[in-house]
Amino acid sequence: MNRVAVALVVLCGVVSASARLQELFTWNQVDFAWPSKAARDAAIQTGAFVPENQMPLGIEVWKDRLFVTLPRWRRGSPATLATVSLNGPQHNQPLQPYPDWAMNREGGPCDGLTGIFRVQIDHACGRLWVLDAGEVDVAEGGVQQCPPKLLAFDLSTDQVVIRHVLPEENVRQGSLFSNLAVDTRNGQCDDTHVYMADAWRFGIVTYSTKSNSSWRVEHNYMQSDPLACRYNTSGVDFRWHDGVFGFGLAPVVDNDRTLYFTPMSGTRAFAVPTSALRNETVIDESTFTVLPQRGGGVDAQWHAGATAMSSNGIMFYNLVTRDAVACWNSRLPYLPNLQGEVARDTVTLNFPNDVKVDEFNNVWVLSNRLPRYLFSSLDLSDVNIRVFAAHESNAIAGTPCDPHYAPQSNDFVTAPCVY
Ligand SMILES: *[C@@H]1O[C@H](CO)[C@@H](O)[C@H](O)[C@H]1NC(C)=O
Ligand SMILES: *[C@@H]1O[C@H](CO)[C@@H](O)[C@H](O)[C@H]1NC(C)=O
Ligand SMILES: *[C@@H]1O[C@H](CO)[C@@H](O)[C@H](O)[C@H]1NC(C)=O
Repeated sequence: MNRVAVALVVLCGVVSASARLQELFTWNQVDFAWPSKAARDAAIQTGAFVPENQMPLGIEVWKDRLFVTLPRWRRGSPATLATVSLNGPQHNQPLQPYPDWAMNREGGPCDGLTGIFRVQIDHACGRLWVLDAGEVDVAEGGVQQCPPKLLAFDLSTDQVVIRHVLPEENVRQGSLFSNLAVDTRNGQCDDTHVYMADAWRFGIVTYSTKSNSSWRVEHNYMQSDPLACRYNTSGVDFRWHDGVFGFGLAPVVDNDRTLYFTPMSGTRAFAVPTSALRNETVIDESTFTVLPQRGGGVDAQWHAGATAMSSNGIMFYNLVTRDAVACWNSRLPYLPNLQGEVARDTVTLNFPNDVKVDEFNNVWVLSNRLPRYLFSSLDLSDVNIRVFAAHESNAIAGTPCDPHYAPQSNDFVTAPCVY
């Protein structure tokens, strides 16, 4: 049994958000593994560390390490990328800055880590790909401190092996590079493509390791839907205009892979063959396709955050305003009744924020009550941040995503179109 599977068995069953997801780690608020108490006290004293300002957003898993990203939302954020041990304490485990404190130092030259939203592991090549948006104080208006860049760490040495600063022509004023999908085929680590989402200026940038260059594609499907920009959850009502956000990279079929993408403020998914994104010279509008609405109704609370796809072609995604994790079997039409509900819980899954599928098809989810952190306040005496996992087969059991599910005729009904 691999170590992740062992961890799942050993850590299972303390509390569970639903029968399907197991709660593995919890925090009231996160703190770091400081070299000493004196170092922590000094950081608080100088304002370099403001404990209540920390808020994790993204996760990834590799062997016995859980990677956690912490965008620099507010002042006093000493690290933007960290790890916890899958074998360590389950509650309030201190975060270890990754790869070290020095690289996480804010305000230095732009060769360190500035502001990270998501990371992605390239299992075939043992690399951690890090998309650094370069932005700090995101919740206080945002400051573009460094240009966005893409880094790859070799996970056996924790050294940077690829560094690509996005050239100016691929970045717009006000861009936010928030998510990425890594495409390595047949273990060819020197021929990897990375697709990066610009959620605020609506584009996808593709980087090729082979040509060591990147290029940008824009399409109206990457924009936010103006009628789905209202979010009403956790007692707060706010507007977000995030476009292209979730990425689900399908398994290889006929030498090509489909990239599904979901604008965060939207009710649909879109698809593009990666062959179109990978060829810098051919960007044909007609290669982009529209999938039907995943849900409907006046409130349009079908916002999909992060998305991930298993090697079996099952897509997992977070319905952030429904406090739910959902799934879809990509062999069936993308219709409301064919979306499965993996788990839903207004307390423990309040604002599910990241979802990942590891190399053994375990599904990992982080929930973080982000709207309360951003727009009201968190009760720090309560558990606010949780990490869950489940094997794919348990996550989809009894839902329409189960490959044995036999669709009924009413599964093919489309969503009510109310606008
Ligand atoms: C890739 O290009 C950058 C400049 O854009 C350069 O600094 C770097 O050395 C190149 N890397 C490789 C492996 O050629
Ligand atoms: C927001 O949601 C709450 C709870 O579901 C509801 O009572 C309230 O009317 C909603 N507010 C708006 C402005 O839609
Ligand atoms: C990109 O597409 C063009 C036009 O179809 C084709 O000529 C070219 O060979 C393609 N490039 C690659 C790298 O496949």
